[in-house]
Amino acid sequence: MSGHRHQHAEHDAAAMFEAPSWEERYSGHESIWSGNPNAQLVSEVSGLTPGTALDVGCGEGGDVIWLARQGWRVTGADFSANGLARAARHAEEAGVADRAEWWQVDARTFAAGGRSYDLVTTHFLHPPDGRMVEVTRRLAEAVAPGGHLLVVGHAPSEVFEELAASHRGAMFLAEDLLPGLPDAFDVLVVEQRPRTMTREGVTVDVHDSTLLARRTDPRWS
Ligand SMILES: C[S@@+](CC[C@H](N)C(=O)[O-])C[C@H]1O[C@@H](n2cnc3c(N)ncnc32)[C@H](O)[C@@H]1O
Repeated sequence: MSGHRHQHAEHDAAAMFEAPSWEERYSGHESIWSGNPNAQLVSEVSGLTPGTALDVGCGEGGDVIWLARQGWRVTGADFSANGLARAARHAEEAGVADRAEWWQVDARTFAAGGRSYDLVTTHFLHPPDGRMVEVTRRLAEAVAPGGHLLVVGHAPSEVFEELAASHRGAMFLAEDLLPGLPDAFDVLVVEQRPRTMTREGVTVDVHDSTLLARRTDPRWS
């Protein structure tokens, strides 16, 4: 590929991180995601007592619906209005709309603004330019005392080698996020967990970077 074409392709790939690109992806009729809850969410949250939850980058709402079915009151947040509309429709169809609400917000700039949740979670939200640390810091601010923060994303892997540099660069290891975690948190899980996934019809082995932390509760410390 010529230098110019390469730059052009990289520019297009970088644009895929932004809201207009997600709006377009969610504008059709076909679901993009399976609707099944994410594996690390099920594994880490099944044992928690349900309360209030915030799922940032909720997409079509698969995790929101699973959480609502477990008894959580869930706010699904995403910067795509089309994604949120799909998620709301899916929650309605699943009969959990009364346990879900929706918030259109960019994870890179959102402020908890006095809201707090017993669980704040995000799966496979990959802001470019290493901004996941800042996103982690913002998400942590929204966690109530005694509550949990669960951040999951793709670990870099040779499976993703053909992706654009900006996409590969947006992947992270769980330990990369630790600088975004305030002192008031105890780290419970920081690891890359193996998982198989189907990509373009092929089953591949990948790792989910998984950070789980609990905010200390001053009443009990
Ligand atoms: C790969 S999808 C994952 C959806 C869902 N969490 C799941 O695991 O099925 C990433 C989602 O994050 C949203 N997203 C990406 N960047 C975002 C940002 N900066 N702020 C809010 N949402 C964002 C996209 O609109 C998309 O719905």
